[in-house]
This record gives sequence, C-alpha cells and structure tokens, in this order.
Amino acid sequence: MTPTRRDALLAAAGLLAAPPAFAADALRPTPAQTEGPFYPDVMPAETDPDLVQTARRQAKGELLDLRGQVLGLDGRPVPGAMVEIWQCDANGRYIATADARRGGGDPGFQGFARLKVGADGRYAFRTIKPVAYPGRTPHIHYKVYRPDGRVLTTQMLVQGEPQNERDGVFRQLAPADRSLVLARLDRAPAGWRTQWDVVLA
Ligand SMILES: [Fe+2]
Repeated sequence: MTPTRRDALLAAAGLLAAPPAFAADALRPTPAQTEGPFYPDVMPAETDPDLVQTARRQAKGELLDLRGQVLGLDGRPVPGAMVEIWQCDANGRYIATADARRGGGDPGFQGFARLKVGADGRYAFRTIKPVAYPGRTPHIHYKVYRPDGRVLTTQMLVQGEPQNERDGVFRQLAPADRSLVLARLDRAPAGWRTQWDVVLA
C-alpha cells in the first residue's frame, strides 16, 4: 500500500494524529499592549512561578491557577520561550519602587515571576485573581521572550469585568483583537483557574 493510500485509510478511521490546531487557518497573534510604568526596576528576591507564597508569608487575595501555552501562528508550541508576569497585589500596589514607596503593599505577594516553557510550550503560575486599581480594570502584565530574542509585551484581562469597556488600554486595541486578551476565569476548589494562551506572530 502506498503511504498516501495508507494515510487516507488511517485518516478515514481517525487513526492519524490530529494535525496542529488550525493548520490551514493561522492563529491570530496576541496583540501587544503597553508595558505600563511598573515593570520591576529591582527584581524581587524570589521570581519562581508561585507568587502567593514567599519566604516571608502568604499573599492576600483570591488564588488564581494561571495556565496556558505559548504558541506560534501555526498552532505549534514555542519551546524555550520565557514568560514573565507582573501584577499589583490585593491592595493595588506593584513591587516597582515608584509604586511600592506609596506604602500599603502586601509583603506576602511576590508581584513578579518568570519561567521558561518546556517542549510543550506550557506555563503555569500560582497567583492571585487580578484586582482593579484607580484608572485600570483588573489585568496581569506579560512579557514573552522568544528564543530568537523577539519580545511580546501584553496584558491579560478578565472576561466579563464591567470595567473593561471603560479601560483606556483595552480600548486602544482594535475591536477585533479585544477578545484575544480576555481570559475566562472559572471557579476552582481553592479559588479560580484559567487557561490563557499567548500566540506569537
Ligand atoms: Fe498594570
């Protein structure tokens, strides 16, 4: 039997591995968004993927199991990509000096984390459900570094947050791109969970 004929038979029987997601239709790239003023100017003592448990104490806030995959436009994982996230604590403070010096920050929240994805492109952080602060709807900042050095800076917002529609950063996105930065949060036994994939152009 020729390979083609064999593949056709196997495919008909559903026995061939599924092609990468949307092989024919390229995925839409996650749009870039502003970095904002609060990328850490000094790195915290800990940058591991668990942001809610530092050597000092446990963070305030609602737990969020934050997972996803870093994908290329062809739907294949991007192994070796590095993912950084940063967000404000439950009191609305970032660890960046400019914000932290206002006081009232939560010393139990790490505020920043980074990890390198594996061959499957997957990442997982343990953090808190993002909260609003004056002028912004809840969000988590991302920087994703491709192995070739290109960087995507963006933000993940929470689907259904009433403040999204009034948020200046969100409104800067093309309307067709807005759904790409919204993550659906579902209840989990210990808080919330979500899966938010980042698609690199
Ligand atoms: Fe922010």
